[in-house]
Amino acid sequence: MRRKLVIGNWKLHGSLLENQGLLNRLKQELHDLEGVDAAVCLPYVYLYQAQAVLRDSAIAWGAQNVSQFTEGAYTSCISAKMVAEFGCTYTIVGHSERRALKLESNQVATKRLLNALHAGLTPIFCVGETLDERDGGMAELIVRNQMLNVVYGLDNKSFALAKKLNMVIAYEPVWAIGTGEHATPEQAQRMHSFIRMMIAERDREFAEQIRILYGGSMAPKNAESLLNMPDIDGGLLGRAALVAEDFIDTCRIASHCWQQQAKFNPQAHTSAVIV
Ligand code: PGA
Repeated sequence: MRRKLVIGNWKLHGSLLENQGLLNRLKQELHDLEGVDAAVCLPYVYLYQAQAVLRDSAIAWGAQNVSQFTEGAYTSCISAKMVAEFGCTYTIVGHSERRALKLESNQVATKRLLNALHAGLTPIFCVGETLDERDGGMAELIVRNQMLNVVYGLDNKSFALAKKLNMVIAYEPVWAIGTGEHATPEQAQRMHSFIRMMIAERDREFAEQIRILYGGSMAPKNAESLLNMPDIDGGLLGRAALVAEDFIDTCRIASHCWQQQAKFNPQAHTSAVIV
């Protein structure tokens, strides 16, 4: 059964002092949680600090992006290889805040994803529709479009690497990010199942294995109903990741949901259920 995965996306937040307190709290509280992996994705400049604090903990860490370039005259870019030197497990790729600033097309996001994979990082590839797109009945079409390169564009070697490194997908409806509004569990389940079926078009085994996270105002108050859904394998948390109690509680809820699912449906890998 897929373990749940809860990842904090700190975005443009943090200071050496605040981070120290938050990371230490997470380290103290988050161990021995059954069926859950936890991680934080911080600004690049704090990766060294994360590595120093979390090195002997159960919590992984990662970056919020990597360059589409590998090396050269690209002022301010940070490569996947550089990030990997700081012990990162993950990097986010294609976050909607980057797409909205026109810093990221599907093509650029795919290049970043490939660089992450070839540097040994597990990419967290973000997809999601805007409110207008949802209201216009286009949500699935948009997400399908964002997923196309990942499902069909990767050569066999890179796809095998994605499978080996357990690439993660995060479904983050843009209208739910940072707004306090979240997708209903049924809306999210439907999209997660859709994404899983898309991956199954290329590789059924990977479709069973891949973890698809929900992001968009996930917090302790809504985590249980979302994480109880069969195809929601965890969360990518923004605001709630900055408050130690909220992040810790969400991880505990994820563990509880995992245990319930393991008890009642231990054989289940995926439901491919559309509610
Ligand atoms: P949020 O952010 O939890 O604040 O909505 C999630 C994200 O953007 O990854």
